[in-house]
Amino acid sequence: MVDPRLAPTPPMGFNTWNRFGIEIDERLMTETIAAICEEGLRDLGYIYVNLDDGWMAPERDALGRLVPDPQRFPHGIGPLADAAHKAGLKLGIYSDCGHRTCKGLPASYGHEREDAQAFAAWGVDFLKYDWCHVPFEDFPGRTHAEVAQILYGRIEAAVAAAGRPMLLSMCNWGDGEPWRWGRGLAHMWRTTDDIVDAYRRETSGWSGDLSTIFRLNAVLDEFAGPGGWNDPDMLEIGNGGMTTTEYQTQFSLWCLMAAPLLIGTDLRAMSEDTRRILTNRELIAIDQDPLGRQAVLADDRDGICLLTKPLAGGDVAVGLFNERDAAAAYAIDWRRIAPTAAREVLARDLWTGEQRRVRGREDCPVLPHETRVWRLSAALD
Ligand code: GLA
Repeated sequence: MVDPRLAPTPPMGFNTWNRFGIEIDERLMTETIAAICEEGLRDLGYIYVNLDDGWMAPERDALGRLVPDPQRFPHGIGPLADAAHKAGLKLGIYSDCGHRTCKGLPASYGHEREDAQAFAAWGVDFLKYDWCHVPFEDFPGRTHAEVAQILYGRIEAAVAAAGRPMLLSMCNWGDGEPWRWGRGLAHMWRTTDDIVDAYRRETSGWSGDLSTIFRLNAVLDEFAGPGGWNDPDMLEIGNGGMTTTEYQTQFSLWCLMAAPLLIGTDLRAMSEDTRRILTNRELIAIDQDPLGRQAVLADDRDGICLLTKPLAGGDVAVGLFNERDAAAAYAIDWRRIAPTAAREVLARDLWTGEQRRVRGREDCPVLPHETRVWRLSAALD
């Protein structure tokens, strides 16, 4: 059983994959650690700095040990973990259930114990564990869900035996519905294929665009909660394939869905818009709310989604997402979704900062692909 106290709220940080793929090295990591601190992101809660696929050498060494790529990581992983810790951050690493990672590098099948021990010895705090090249033939008659439980169980036990607390991120793309059995084996579980940096894509492929991924994850609210979170994959904000409105939508929806917030852009070169989105404190507070509830999709008509997320202390977060390509308006009945006992309700728009008293129903305009978010609280007088 993983320790749920490692993820009382959805994990936050940075991961190399979305922006850099396997073009990663220790300089990128060191500069990212510096940027997270300088940009004030650490103090907002973005504390994990995570390596994804590509950190390891093409083969294990003569003793069967997994080794960092000597060109890209000449000093190894330990010093990077030390640098992260010195900066008040935590270091994440990546491996895979199978013989090889998705990019064909050595992975942990049959090496779970020694790899977990190496990660612990290096000072790693977070392990993302992928699902490529799994030898299903070794498990005749077993379903994917069963094999996943065996293999994620093995790495969970190996990490526990290695003795260093590590947050476990299960990355099996929703195969076998991990939200039904992932709690206890990991602190977060991917619910979908990989996200692509696009709002909507006409061709269907293995990976999913923002609106597709949102819809797959939005209906899984009952499975998220403190200690274990639905993971609709990482943030694409800042990577260039979507408009600012669409990136605001990703941030809004991910915060409402209590999703892990793993930044996937180049933090050394953020635009003003990217910075403004990723540092929205009030949205982050919705994601990190201690009650730990994922928003419910309360209404879903003609491409307009209404999401409501109960918050600790009785406030409610409300999201209005216009999935369509045309501007729209939706009548929100504030009294119905507001904190129950309140006679009057304060609605604070978390993107504009505007705050007003609301009552009854009101037509709320919403731009194409936009998500508006309000925090409702009881008006005190
Ligand atoms: C899979 C995962 C991604 C990423 C890549 C790395 O596709 O789902 O998040 O880790 O592998 O190869």
